[in-house]
Amino acid sequence: MTLNISVIGTGYLGATHAACMAELGFDVIGVDVDPEKIDSLSRGELPFHEPGLPELIRKHVDSGKLRFITDPDYSTVGAWADVHFVAVGTPQQPGGTGADLTYVDAATVGLAEGITKDSLIVGKSTVPVGTARRLAGLVEEKSRDAVNVSLSWNPEFLREGFAVKDTLTPDRLVVGTDSDADEAVLREVYAEALERETPWISTDFETAELVKVAANAFLATKISFINAFSEVTEAVGGNITTLADAIGFDTRIGRKFLNAGVGFGGGCLPKDIRALQTRVSELGLDHTMTFLDEMDKINLRRRERVVTLSENILDELAGKRIAVLGVTFKPLSDDVRDSPGLDVANRLYTAGAEVSVYDPEGNANAAKRFPRLEYVESLADAAKDADLVVLTTEWNEFKELTPAGLDGLVAQKRFVDARNVLPAADWEKAGWTFAQLGRFYDGL
Ligand code: UDX
Repeated sequence: MTLNISVIGTGYLGATHAACMAELGFDVIGVDVDPEKIDSLSRGELPFHEPGLPELIRKHVDSGKLRFITDPDYSTVGAWADVHFVAVGTPQQPGGTGADLTYVDAATVGLAEGITKDSLIVGKSTVPVGTARRLAGLVEEKSRDAVNVSLSWNPEFLREGFAVKDTLTPDRLVVGTDSDADEAVLREVYAEALERETPWISTDFETAELVKVAANAFLATKISFINAFSEVTEAVGGNITTLADAIGFDTRIGRKFLNAGVGFGGGCLPKDIRALQTRVSELGLDHTMTFLDEMDKINLRRRERVVTLSENILDELAGKRIAVLGVTFKPLSDDVRDSPGLDVANRLYTAGAEVSVYDPEGNANAAKRFPRLEYVESLADAAKDADLVVLTTEWNEFKELTPAGLDGLVAQKRFVDARNVLPAADWEKAGWTFAQLGRFYDGL
């Protein structure tokens, strides 16, 4: 008998998970409280950009393996699914730094009350340590006597832009559970990955929850570590990329996530790190994660550095025309949450510059957040008559830029490459004032 699977919450994580579960051969129902989202997903339309996902959703909506419904009392999926994945958001608390657990609590309790067949609830959302054990207690208390319902935790490590690949071929699977039977069910769900010998880590609730935040904290630390060295090479000289390459050859360190630049952003790393700090403070361990405060500060200082570098190059920002290339927090995404590029664009504007923004996918979301900036439809439109071009997100289109491509367009040949992706020597040879982060410039 194959398992029926429900996925509660059809945002970024849930929509991807639902489509990938259908791709693995399961019958899947995605549930959301928002009827508009359900309608558009049922037509294979996504409210966000993720390569390959709309096609996968359409494929399985058409094949009948994937449906999307609203199910306010969870009675439909509660009578149908064997496994319920909870993939609702855990945003930063309004006015606070901890995680807002309203949605995860409501979905779990709602499911526990609505379930009418023996089944397993599996949390996927990123939560503060201690949440799974608390929710397991609530599930036991709220579920009906006639049915056997339990809870496990299975954190998700997918990256935006690679969500489908990361879900179908994860580099490890982590399950927090106190039941061998539940673990066996999850092994069945992930049988295909297990056949490929994907590492399977079965552990307690607390470890499973902490694995996720520890991974995020480590990645953010790597980025801020190299960016801190950028501050040193900016002061003394040296080449930050060569430094990263050289330490990265040490397999204990590794080269990944050592790209110096304008820093990290997005809907996960910044909020998860703040939530981790808040949680350890609640546990009376304020001192334990103070290094993360420093990571956050280093990260934010990089944005400021781009602004001061721009100002130094232009003498003053007021009245200058600046093209900002890239306002998503990273390429292959339309996500502008906590985006360094968008923050830089807004700071330049606030300092009096005329800012012209171009992003291949992010303009619409950025305009919702900062409507005062000018958004244009092409790189050429942004660069036209610019006194300075600032590259803030390393989309391929920008990585392929050459001096010849911009020479006739800009008013002044001045460039800040805030992601260190272009060959500085070529630009300098072509007569550009060309600045990158982590490099020493006399007077800048
Ligand atoms: C991240 C984690 O990678 C993922 O495992 C977790 O589930 C969610 O958070 P994501 O937010 O999609 O995924 O982005 P990621 O690719 O990790 O990049 C995060 C930020 O770091 C981006 O703003 C990126 O530009 C920046 N970054 C990354 C750097 O500045 N330098 C690097 O070397 C790598």
